[in-house]
Amino acid sequence: MPLTRFSISVDSKLIERFDTKIKTEKCPTRSKAIGDLIRASLVKDEWKYGEEVAGAIVLLYDHHKRNIVEKITDLQHDYNDNIISTQHIHLDHDNCLEIVAVKGKANRIKEIESVLKSVKGLKHCSLAATSTGKELA
Ligand code: NI
Repeated sequence: MPLTRFSISVDSKLIERFDTKIKTEKCPTRSKAIGDLIRASLVKDEWKYGEEVAGAIVLLYDHHKRNIVEKITDLQHDYNDNIISTQHIHLDHDNCLEIVAVKGKANRIKEIESVLKSVKGLKHCSLAATSTGKELA
C-alpha cells in the first residue's frame, strides 16, 4: 500500500499531550497513532451506518443458573447465519466465559448483542466491535 505524507497543524499543548499518551501506550510512532485513530473513526462509522462488520460478544455466566445454557444455545442457533464461531471456557467450578464471534450487518449484530444481554442470570455481556477489514488499509 503506497504511503501519503501530509502535514497538519494542531495546538502545541494538544500534540504534547498526545505524544505523552502514545509514549505511555508504547505506540512506536506518531504516524501509527494517527493511522490507528483514523481506522477507529472509520470502524465507528461502519457500525453507525449499518455496514458489514465483525466482532466478538463476550458472555460471562454461572452455568448452574436455571436454563441459562439452554437459553444461550437456543439464541445462538437462531442467529447461526451471523455467528461464525463460539468458544466456551470453564473459568472455574461455576463461571463460564463464552466468546461468540460474529459477522454481518451492524444492526443485526447489535440485535444479537441485545438478545444475549437480555438472558436472565447473565453476569456480564460485552461487545468488541470491529470491522471485516475489507475497507481498512
Ligand atoms: Ni463452562
